[in-house]
Amino acid sequence: MTTKLFRDARIHTPVSDKSRCVSWERGALLVKDGLIESVGREDDVLQGLHPSQIDQEIDLGGRCVVPGFVDPHTHMCFSELREREFALRLSGVSYLEILRSGGGILSSVRSVRSASEETILARTLKNVHIALSLGTTTVEIKSGYGLDTASEIRMLRLIERLGRKTPVTVVPTFMGAHAVPSEFSDDPEGYVDLLVKEMIPAVSAECNPPFCDVFCEEGVFSVSQARRVLEAAREHGMKLKVHADEVTDTGGAALAAEMGAVSAEHLLAAREENLAKMVSAGVIAVLLPATAYSLRKPYADARKMLDLGLTVALATDCNPGSSFTQSVPFVFGLAVMKMGMTVDEALSGCTLNAARAIGVDKICGSLEKNKLADLIVLDGDTPAIMAYNCGVAPVLSVYKRGECVAKRPDDRGIN
Ligand code: NIG
Ligand code: FE
Repeated sequence: MTTKLFRDARIHTPVSDKSRCVSWERGALLVKDGLIESVGREDDVLQGLHPSQIDQEIDLGGRCVVPGFVDPHTHMCFSELREREFALRLSGVSYLEILRSGGGILSSVRSVRSASEETILARTLKNVHIALSLGTTTVEIKSGYGLDTASEIRMLRLIERLGRKTPVTVVPTFMGAHAVPSEFSDDPEGYVDLLVKEMIPAVSAECNPPFCDVFCEEGVFSVSQARRVLEAAREHGMKLKVHADEVTDTGGAALAAEMGAVSAEHLLAAREENLAKMVSAGVIAVLLPATAYSLRKPYADARKMLDLGLTVALATDCNPGSSFTQSVPFVFGLAVMKMGMTVDEALSGCTLNAARAIGVDKICGSLEKNKLADLIVLDGDTPAIMAYNCGVAPVLSVYKRGECVAKRPDDRGIN
């Protein structure tokens, strides 16, 4: 049993409501065996505590402390980058054109299918470690670069294995409906049949992933195809997510509401009436501003979504195509500077609301009693430093279950 006291911290954390945060100017956190025992004003936390009860004291020198980031939407398990495709996009070729001509997601499918487990693991671990150094303590990772039963199961097993090789908590999502693989290019319905009749039952029996996601998009999976996949996944006990209205408005947001999905993601092109359906159905909006940045698209209308009453989470979408970044601080900065979100809304989006979007809000996402002591020390007084000190990550140190797991090289002032 170890007890640690983090003191002289400017603590800033969301609490149970949608985007409300609380802060303590001179705050403290008492951590017992990796769990938060108490948090609040330093005087209150110290009350009744005898120095002999504390094994280690960490003086944070007045720096800002926020919960560890939860990144609820990534495709960071892959084997190769797609820099040549990025150059094509810079020259004006669109993301969907590249996919239609057999590149994009399909080129990552080719490389993942032929890569060794060690190669995929090495690349993915690198992504996870970069994310961790930037404050991510929990990450969702989707399959979806296998697109046949054996390759999808292999990806999900690798994602699971990865979770045991890093301090970061990893939540897997099955995304066999990420694209129609080239062997089914003349028969997309045949691929949906395979997903429904073979892949979903096999994946659920072998790997039991908590979530299933579908790329509902013009030229990828139609609303009715996506519905079939989601119905099958639900029958096999998976909770649902939808890549909805990322490039075109096909009604993915309405489908997410109809199916009672946990979340609809992207929503760059979503119609207001369908956003309203999401509000009624309690679907969380997961917004991915780094994807809009990388695809040079207008950002999702976060302000409108928040004003409609949606719960908004933020994620990197880290993948080798539409958004190659592992950085939640970058996403936070874009949300504040480009999407009209307040600092508290953006912080909630990267922490508690993100945890809700992947079903881990009981254990992380905020600095509250009995949750994991996953926290970040920022090189500033408030979380706004992440938008203000743009282009760098003002993350000094990262703690997972109360243990320091990453430290910026210039951080000599703490411990
Ligand atoms: O969320 N839209 C589909 N999937 C990812 C991109 C994956 C890729 O290009 O490899 C996304 O943008
Ligand atoms: Fe995505």
